[in-house]
Amino acid sequence: MRIAMIGSGYVGLVSGACFADFGHEVVCVDQDGGRIAALDAGKMPIFEPGLEALVTENVKGGRLHFSTALKPAVAAADVVFIAVGTPSRRGDGHADLSFVEAAAAEIAGAISGFTVVVTKSTVPVGTGDKVEAIMRQTNPNADIAVVSNPEFLREGAAIEDFKRPDRILLGVEDERAQAVMTEIYRPLSLNAPPLLFVDRRTAELTKYAGNAFLAMKIAFINEMADLCEKTGANVQDLARGIGLDGRIGSKFLNAGPGYGGSCFPKDTLALVRIGEDFGSPVPLVETVVASNARRKAGMAGRVIAAMGGDVSGKRIGILGLTFKPNTDDLRESPALTLIEDLQTAGAWVRAYDPEGMEAARGMLEGVVFAHDEYDAAEGVDGMVLVTEWNAFRSLDLARLRGLMAKPVFVDLRNVYRDKEMEAAGFAYFSIGRPKGSGKGTERRAAAE
Ligand code: UDX
Repeated sequence: MRIAMIGSGYVGLVSGACFADFGHEVVCVDQDGGRIAALDAGKMPIFEPGLEALVTENVKGGRLHFSTALKPAVAAADVVFIAVGTPSRRGDGHADLSFVEAAAAEIAGAISGFTVVVTKSTVPVGTGDKVEAIMRQTNPNADIAVVSNPEFLREGAAIEDFKRPDRILLGVEDERAQAVMTEIYRPLSLNAPPLLFVDRRTAELTKYAGNAFLAMKIAFINEMADLCEKTGANVQDLARGIGLDGRIGSKFLNAGPGYGGSCFPKDTLALVRIGEDFGSPVPLVETVVASNARRKAGMAGRVIAAMGGDVSGKRIGILGLTFKPNTDDLRESPALTLIEDLQTAGAWVRAYDPEGMEAARGMLEGVVFAHDEYDAAEGVDGMVLVTEWNAFRSLDLARLRGLMAKPVFVDLRNVYRDKEMEAAGFAYFSIGRPKGSGKGTERRAAAE
C-alpha cells in the first residue's frame, strides 16, 4: 500500500521505516527542510538502535522516500498517518494539538480518492472527531475515514516494539478503514499480535491509560523503595516477589531516580487534564505526577547525605544524562534535576553519557563534559550512576577508585551490589537496599 507519514520524528520516522520494511511504499514528510535533507543524506535526526540500517536499506530498496512536500505525498497515498508532535501546552499540561490540527487541514486539501487518515500521535479523547470535522470542513468532497492507531514504542527499543507489538490498537468507525488497516498490518500477522478494533475514543483514551498505568507502577516501586530503606527490606527482592504474580507482572518494577522522557511526564499530565475537562478527575494519576516530581527532586539530597551532608566546593562525577539507556533523549531526565540541584548546593559537576552529550551541552551550564566514564571520575569526591547504560555495568572498579579523590559511589539504578563495591573500597549507596540486604536478586538484568 502507499503511505504518507506526516511528521518524521521519533514516531513518524520509525513507523515509516518499519512500514517500508513490511513492503509498503512510504513517503516520510516533514516541514523541517534540514531534517529531510539530513535524511536524504542518510543522517539520522535521532539516535535509535538499528534505525540507520533500516532506513538505508529501505531507501535503497526504493520503498522509503523523504519530502517536505505534503500535498503530492497525500494525493498518492492510500493511508496518511499524522505523527506530528503533541507537546504539553505551556503552563497547563493540556496536549498542544496545533500541529495535528494544522496537518489535518493541509491533508484535507490534498486528498484524492478514498483515503484513510490515521492519528498516530498521542492525542486526547475526541481528537479523531476534531480531525474529521476539520477535514470535512476544509474539503467537503474528501472521501476519508479517520482512524486512531496509537503507538506503544519505547525509545531505544522502538523498532523491536513496532515489529513485535503486544497488540495493534485501532480505533475505527468505518468498515472500509478496517479493511485497509488490516492490510497495512498484514505483514505483522506472522508474529500474530492481536489486531484490536475498538471505537476511536476508546483507542485514544487507552493510550493515555496505558502510559499512566506504567508510570504509576514506577512511582509505586519507588515509594516501596523508600519504605524498604526504612524497614530494612530489599526492594529488588520485593519487586520480584510481587512481580511473579501474573496479575502484576515483573516489568517496570525497577526502583530508580524517577521516570523521565517525552511520554510519561507529558501523558500523565494530559490525562489529568482530560479527567478535569470531562468532569471525571483522576486523583490517582495526579498523585503519580506529584510523587514522581518529589522523587526527582529528592535525589540530590541523597547524594549530599552520602557525601557527608555538604557538597559545596566538592567535585561530583555523573554517569548518565539521558532519561534511559539506548537513547540520546534528555527530555525530563532525572539527571537534569539532579545536576542543577547539586550545582545549587555548590558542587562542581563532571558528566558523561554515551549518546546524550550533544543534547546536554545546550541544556546544562557549568558542567564539565567528560570524554568517557573514567574521565568523569577524575579527581571527584563522589560518583553518581543515574542512567543504566550497559557501558556502566561492568566498570573497572579498581581503576575507578584510583581516579577518584574520595570513594563515594551513589548507584541510583541498583546496577551494583554493596558487597562487591565495599570490597573494592567504595562507600556505596543504592536505592531501597539497606546494607547487606538482598538474597535472591542478581545484578539487575539489562533494561527490559
Ligand atoms: C514509554 C512507554 O513505555 C511506551 O510504551 C510509550 O509508547 C512511550 O512512553 P519511553 O518513555 O520511551 O516509553 O521509555 P520507558 O522505557 O517506558 O521508560 C520511561 C521512564 O521510566 C524512563 O525514565 C525509565 O528510566 C523509567 N523506568 C522504566 C523506571 O524508572 N523503572 C522501570 O522499571 C522502567
